[in-house]
Amino acid sequence: MTIPTPSRDDRFSFGLWTVGWQGVDVFGGAVRPPLDPGEAIRKLSELGAYGITFHDDDVVPFGSSAAERDRLLGVVRDALAETGLVVPMLTTNLFSHPVFRDGGFTNNDRDVRRFALRKTAEQIDLAAELGATTFVAWGGREGAESGASKDVRSALDRYREAFDVLGAYVVEQGYDMRFALEPKPNEPRGDILLPTIGHALAFIAELERPELVGVNPEVGHEEMAGLNFAHGIAQALWAGKLYHVDLNGQTGPRFDQDLRFGAGNVRGAFWTVDVLETYGYDGPRHFDFKPPRTEDMDGVWASAAGCMTNYLVLREKTQAFRADPEVQEALAAARLDQLAQPTLAEGETLAQLRQESFDPDEAGRRGMAFERLDQLALEYLYGVR
Ligand code: GCO
Ligand code: MN
Ligand code: MN
Ligand code: MN
Repeated sequence: MTIPTPSRDDRFSFGLWTVGWQGVDVFGGAVRPPLDPGEAIRKLSELGAYGITFHDDDVVPFGSSAAERDRLLGVVRDALAETGLVVPMLTTNLFSHPVFRDGGFTNNDRDVRRFALRKTAEQIDLAAELGATTFVAWGGREGAESGASKDVRSALDRYREAFDVLGAYVVEQGYDMRFALEPKPNEPRGDILLPTIGHALAFIAELERPELVGVNPEVGHEEMAGLNFAHGIAQALWAGKLYHVDLNGQTGPRFDQDLRFGAGNVRGAFWTVDVLETYGYDGPRHFDFKPPRTEDMDGVWASAAGCMTNYLVLREKTQAFRADPEVQEALAAARLDQLAQPTLAEGETLAQLRQESFDPDEAGRRGMAFERLDQLALEYLYGVR
């Protein structure tokens, strides 16, 4: 197999905060210089990406004057015009400034919640102007470290209120835009609200305009909770709610590693690509990773390129797996065709079904033939087929 190279048709996008991460963590300061957004855009374009995404503060530092904002956004606009890169998604930083120590939309302080809405509305306007159709909301600071400090029912009322207000705003403005909630179980808060895809989907059903709100799951976040990411996005797709996706790598339940896509849980990455490519996801393949603090800028670009290469390698492998006649036989032996059939025949009633005879002992002797099927997948993944 030759190493595939990305093209714009692959629709790979990157957060500016990913390649721009200077390596500041809980135990140490910056190890890399600030990255100019214009340079980031040009370099990502060269590497084969088609889009970039950013928080308001990634481009315009918190508290900048209006003139400074115009100048800094001008740098982005120029680089976009020069490269032809698009902006499929934008998002708001409601977590870095001290004012958000207890979150934005669910902060106990009402004036902070009001400020969070204003800050988000301003970024929504910019998103519409730049042609973004998805607005991500990662509520990293919406949560608690202790019990009585957060009345979860009230916090969820306020969370709902925020999306009802913002939803009404995009409708009123006539923006072609949907929101995508990004679940995460913890970090930076001890416990974050809407910790998993499932929590987020249940929350969305309670909103005034559920059709405007979906999810932006991140590989590592579900895996931090010990969950199967491919199953999670499969359910989101089944519900028509996978509006966006954050691809990266993670090695089991531990701190949020944000490794490049394809590193960490490799087997999970194989099934993630399989689901994205076969269940009808048509959004950007967005990478949200943090090039490790060990790296200089060469390492940052190697890490970014690796995300795309790994996606393409896994796409080839999963497609070859699906196309293999031996795999199709194994799928039939595992009765995937039966799973796709309704349990009752058309027009059949439960009363009629209850008249049927069934031999559970006979059925109980049948094996499911899943090991053969999974071994075939692994042989593709290991590169021996
Ligand atoms: C994380 C989160 C963040 C958000 C991003 C968008 O790794 O904890 O993924 O990176 O995705 O900040 O708001
Ligand atoms: Mn993460
Ligand atoms: Mn993310
Ligand atoms: Mn992230």
